[in-house]
Amino acid sequence: MILTNLSRASAPAKVVLFGEHFVVYGSPAILGSIDRRIRVSAQIIRPPQIIIRSDTGFSASFTVNKLDECETNMSEAQKFTYPLYFATHEVIRGSLNAKVKLGVEIDIHSDIPYGIGLGSSAASCVATVAAVGSLFLKRDRHWIFTRAHRAERLIHKSSSGGDCYVSTFGGLIYYVTNGKNRRIKTRRSVSLILVNTGIKHSTKALVSLVENFRNQNTSLFDDLANSATHICDQAALALTEDNPVKLGRLMSRNHRLLETLGVSTVETDNLVRYCLDSGAYGAKLTGAGGGGSVIALVPDECKTEFEYKLLKKYSYQCIPVQIKSYGLLKY
Ligand code: PMV
Repeated sequence: MILTNLSRASAPAKVVLFGEHFVVYGSPAILGSIDRRIRVSAQIIRPPQIIIRSDTGFSASFTVNKLDECETNMSEAQKFTYPLYFATHEVIRGSLNAKVKLGVEIDIHSDIPYGIGLGSSAASCVATVAAVGSLFLKRDRHWIFTRAHRAERLIHKSSSGGDCYVSTFGGLIYYVTNGKNRRIKTRRSVSLILVNTGIKHSTKALVSLVENFRNQNTSLFDDLANSATHICDQAALALTEDNPVKLGRLMSRNHRLLETLGVSTVETDNLVRYCLDSGAYGAKLTGAGGGGSVIALVPDECKTEFEYKLLKKYSYQCIPVQIKSYGLLKY
């Protein structure tokens, strides 16, 4: 076992291009890691504590000796960082003899906006497990993914694992929960415009809304899931063939499925329509929905005008995002 004093890791945010929600029930999804990252540094400290600090100003501390329960009397910072504590505790307990009394201090720096569908929670779990894991042993990506996903499941227990997977391995991924994932190769990097409605969502609440929908409309849900699978397969082809017109049409079709599921909002539907009227090949909500963000595929030559139109009509923030192949990086 190595015992390094300080280790660092960074993990990317993601966008779901196709298949969100249906992926929880075994359909495929297409996700891509993007050029926004979370950076985590971890260092060994003498007091047997786990201290988690972020550049947003919060700080939480927990015990190492036993796993603290997530209780209602915890501070907001403790509740918020609980999955990171859980993951760190698991890594320490799996690496150190219980008699060794050491702790870990974790510092988080993020340029991923929180709660808008970019997978900031998953990226923070991945980077934390990687940074803490490297304090003790060299770990492979699969080891990191498994633990990060376990921690993310504390946030919403039926998580498909897609966010953690793409944040760990990076690139454009055709993701299926049965593990038969594959990388989609494209001739050039895919770039999208992400429009943030500013309405924060709870993935957990939206996943449970879909669960209720499925329980009450079994055969309709199965039809929608079949369509979502077909859209993903076609989209994987369109990405490989570099066919933006087809890709855009598929995005808009995918959005309509999400609308039927009830995870979209009036604002999001209007925004998707406005994106199409403003020159996008296609647009859809990305991630859990309930506000959050819309992604639009816009011809390069229309991007400036597109952003101008959006800013003029709404005051929504437009974030250009590019799919990048870098997943987790350790240094
Ligand atoms: O939390 P978000 O907005 O990144 O969405 C996650 C995607 C879902 O398909 C809704 C849930 C999942 O676990 O795949």
